Amino acid sequence: MSANQGNVIVVTGAGSGIGKAAVARLASEQAMVVAVDLTESSLAWTEELDSVVSLAGDVTDPKVNDQMVALAVDNFGPLDGAVLNAGILAQGDIMRGSMTDYDRVMDVNVRGVALGLKSSVAAMASAGGSITITGSVSGLRGDSGLWAYNVSKGAVVNLARAAALDLGHLNIRVNAVCPGPIHTGLTEETKGTKIGDAMEARLPLGRFGEPEEVAAVISFLISDESSFVTGTAIPVDGGITAGTGQWATYAGRKRGFL
Ligand SMILES: NC(=O)c1ccc[n+]([C@@H]2O[C@H](COP(=O)([O-])OP(=O)(O)OC[C@H]3O[C@@H](n4cnc5c(N)ncnc54)[C@H](O)[C@@H]3O)[C@@H](O)[C@H]2O)c1
Repeated sequence: MSANQGNVIVVTGAGSGIGKAAVARLASEQAMVVAVDLTESSLAWTEELDSVVSLAGDVTDPKVNDQMVALAVDNFGPLDGAVLNAGILAQGDIMRGSMTDYDRVMDVNVRGVALGLKSSVAAMASAGGSITITGSVSGLRGDSGLWAYNVSKGAVVNLARAAALDLGHLNIRVNAVCPGPIHTGLTEETKGTKIGDAMEARLPLGRFGEPEEVAAVISFLISDESSFVTGTAIPVDGGITAGTGQWATYAGRKRGFL
């Protein structure tokens, strides 16, 4: 039996990148999935999967979160898992970054996750369940020029911890997955550029991760295989948070970065 066989799971941000890979992975494990993203067209790829129902909507809307959970329960039965993954990036440093960008990032990356958590918990049966939040290494440390994103990801990492404490007695586990640079829509602009090359050089494994490598960890955390794991923030980051940043990695030195 595969890890998530028969589990009923909602996944947000399922139209691209990590969320898409998570849906594909969970469906391949014979889970039943509700896939949520902003547009129907981004979810068209799920049509070929019998055990996946899609929902177009914005996770910052409480009604959309209730709707995704209702769809899961009505189509498949009590909810076992939620992958609260939808997120956006805003560039700009603390002096020039606008409060409009800040508000939108906080709305999607934090409020959207909080709403998803509340709706999901309400639909989990007495047996409990498992929730993963996609945080980021940017929620564990700071970055230059990404202040709003750093604030939002720091918040959801701590939200995972707080929720794990509140929900443990219901056997509902909550964990954050913290990716480093992954090849997705979010990082597309860096592909093949000098910035992308320099980012790769800072990673001990010397490369960006693939969405499937994050989906594998999400699958583990959602399944009963991780039944004693809750309140954690697990880096899936090619080793970048292991370093102090003082010295170039060996992968970087091979490329001439000292
Ligand atoms: N790619 C990386 O390097 C990286 C690193 C760390 C963390 N993350 C996090 O991973 C998560 C997934 O991002 P990704 O890298 O797969 O990017 P992506 O842009 O490829 O996918 C994100 C998806 O979320 C959807 N989305 C955005 N706002 C939404 C909203 N309000 N309602 C519903 N859906 C919405 C987008 O339409 C998109 O399909 C995000 O939370 C992101 O912050 C990504």
